[in-house]
Amino acid sequence: MMHTVLSLETSCDETAVAVVQFKDGNFHVLSSLIASQADEHSQWGGVVPEIASRRHLENIPFLLEAAVEKSGLDYSAINAVAATATPGLTGALIVGSVTARTLACLYGLPFLGIHHLEGHLASAFLSANPPSPPFLLLLASGGHTELIKVSQDLEYKRVGFSHDDAAGEAFDKVARLLGLPYPGGPAIEEISKSGDPKRFVFPKGKVSNPLGGFYPYDFSFSGLKTSVLRKVENLRLMEDEIPLADIAASFEHVVAEVLVERSLKYALDYDISSLVLVGGVAANSCLRAMMIKEARSKSVTVHFAPKSFCTDNAAMIGTAALLRLRSGTSPSSIGLGVSARYNLDKADFLYDAVPPF
Ligand code: KG4
Ligand code: ZN
Repeated sequence: MMHTVLSLETSCDETAVAVVQFKDGNFHVLSSLIASQADEHSQWGGVVPEIASRRHLENIPFLLEAAVEKSGLDYSAINAVAATATPGLTGALIVGSVTARTLACLYGLPFLGIHHLEGHLASAFLSANPPSPPFLLLLASGGHTELIKVSQDLEYKRVGFSHDDAAGEAFDKVARLLGLPYPGGPAIEEISKSGDPKRFVFPKGKVSNPLGGFYPYDFSFSGLKTSVLRKVENLRLMEDEIPLADIAASFEHVVAEVLVERSLKYALDYDISSLVLVGGVAANSCLRAMMIKEARSKSVTVHFAPKSFCTDNAAMIGTAALLRLRSGTSPSSIGLGVSARYNLDKADFLYDAVPPF
């Protein structure tokens, strides 16, 4: 069976369009284009929703044209159109969703609204060494840090999450207080290469259970950010020069440690032998190396999304659509809108005849 999907992603500050094909048992990314607005949002220290929507609107016609042309196909070869429906910035999501639904109407194609986190999950299937369910998914991005148990037939159960900042958000906030550019993840990774990850000890952010003890599989990153801030303030009083690389490396190290420890603990406690890492933070080399080493020592296999598909892109949305089509899910209603928030475990409802939003 061969299927080809044209897919759009506009949930945050990247406008992305891709053409993805499922052929001979494999996913093939025929084109995947991304117009990042990071530089523009950078001057504001974070994403400005109104600017994001406007830039999506300006960029999307050009990206569409270029992505279809680069795929070497024309619309007659496309079997379905997909777009991120939720979660994300409402105005930003609308641009991709309306564009996709208009194309679907115009060319008489099925439309699939995709849950952004299901898109991140699907990015792991673009790897040369794709996972096979069941597995434990660690999704660490700018908006989410979640541990999700994925069953053999791709059903989801969230078993751990961050009670405050997402891991990527912590990278962004710490980068900002160190005077590094947005997005913070790549900037911290770069400067950490020349730093000593053992120089400073930052807290691992445990989440207390009101009934006693801690939630063993949950995360908290806001205390860590505050602790880095205190350290920088104290050092400023004592030293002329702040050891940025050592602070960045120590921060990166503790985030990686927490993500590795808690996911492996769940995998071992619940006898899951396969772990999958996706989302922007999964691009981090320190995290990847630590996870490989620790998982190996515990006989857990690890799969990663390819680095280039960890951060937001449309190929992952197309792959999620192809996984849906392959499993016999019917397309979404053309009336499916967008929603800023929606739990992943309800993703099946995006394909109901009467849409949830
Ligand atoms: O998945 P993503 O592109 O967008 C969301 O869905 O949120 O993730 C973006 C986040 C940002 O917070 C960014 O700082 C972080 O992923 N990130 C990284 C790296 N590359 C991106 N964090 C750590 N190391 C990286 N190499
Ligand atoms: Zn994302």
